[in-house]
Amino acid sequence: MQKILIQLDTDPQPSVFDRVVAVDSGVEHLFSYSGVTPETVTGLVHGAMFTRGPADLKNTAIFVGGGSAADGEALLKKVQKTFFGPMRVSVMMDSNGCNTTAAAAIASARRHLPLAETSAIVLGATGPVGLRAAELLALEHAHVTLVSRTLERAQAACLTILQRQPDAHLSAAAAASPEDYQQLCYGQELIVAAGAAGACFLNDGALQQLPGLRLAIDLNAVPPVGISEISVMDKATEKFGVLCYGAIGVGGLKMKVHRRAVASLFEGNDRVLDTRAIYALALEVAGIAR
Ligand SMILES: NC(=O)c1ccc[n+]([C@@H]2O[C@H](COP(=O)([O-])OP(=O)(O)OC[C@H]3O[C@@H](n4cnc5c(N)ncnc54)[C@H](OP(=O)(O)O)[C@@H]3O)[C@@H](O)[C@H]2O)c1
Repeated sequence: MQKILIQLDTDPQPSVFDRVVAVDSGVEHLFSYSGVTPETVTGLVHGAMFTRGPADLKNTAIFVGGGSAADGEALLKKVQKTFFGPMRVSVMMDSNGCNTTAAAAIASARRHLPLAETSAIVLGATGPVGLRAAELLALEHAHVTLVSRTLERAQAACLTILQRQPDAHLSAAAAASPEDYQQLCYGQELIVAAGAAGACFLNDGALQQLPGLRLAIDLNAVPPVGISEISVMDKATEKFGVLCYGAIGVGGLKMKVHRRAVASLFEGNDRVLDTRAIYALALEVAGIAR
């Protein structure tokens, strides 16, 4: 039976990136729908659920994507609510690459640091990638500071994580200048910079002034990058005694994780690939034991 992936995209046009990765992941037929909302998705999900017998449903899967992670989360919820009993297909959510990118970043960190009890800071922690990176660090029992330009937004991001993980060790902080970011990073062992494209947090000279820093990951590939001493190609590159990863350095693993995640949808009809499930896959792809 042929593998069909149903791409449900919340944007006006379905993501070309997600379509290419679907083909590269072994999908045989890709049905792409755009502008999908929780209000319009039920019929599309029924079309996936009711066309093949329960034993064959593993050959149909759903991918939720689009530019907004909040819209993607809402759509994923409605898709799951539409299933019942054995009448379900596997589903993955990765709006704007938020889950695969955060999972690849934290799996990269796990290669070098134990993470439990590690003091970690996420800059740009209120975005889709930063929030999920912070959540995964909390899952690994790190002590995580979430930084935004607005304290209320950082606090709201902490609350979101605490709702999912009440025992998380989190603190919220606001920063308005490179000096503020530098000060907040002082004493941290791990920095994950997940700011918007072109937003620079730490300027030249910053890494040398951060004793105790062991690992720094910058996910922003668009100049100026988030940590100016990190090059996009850095991949476990040592600089001033700090191991550094740039956006493309993480991107290789991210692409492998995305492809592996899509392929794994067809291993059963009940997979739900959300942030944590995609992280578990990332650790597997990176060869790291849980
Ligand atoms: N390497 C990869 O494979 C890969 C894949 C996907 C995404 N990315 C990159 O990962 C990064 C995070 O993605 P995202 O979608 O989560 O980003 P985003 O939502 O665009 O931005 C993240 C956060 O950055 C902060 N921010 C925005 N403009 C800023 C400015 N001028 N100065 C300081 N902070 C600013 C905002 O937080 P506050 O308003 O709360 O301060 C925002 O919530 C991006 O750079 C993206 O390009 C990399």
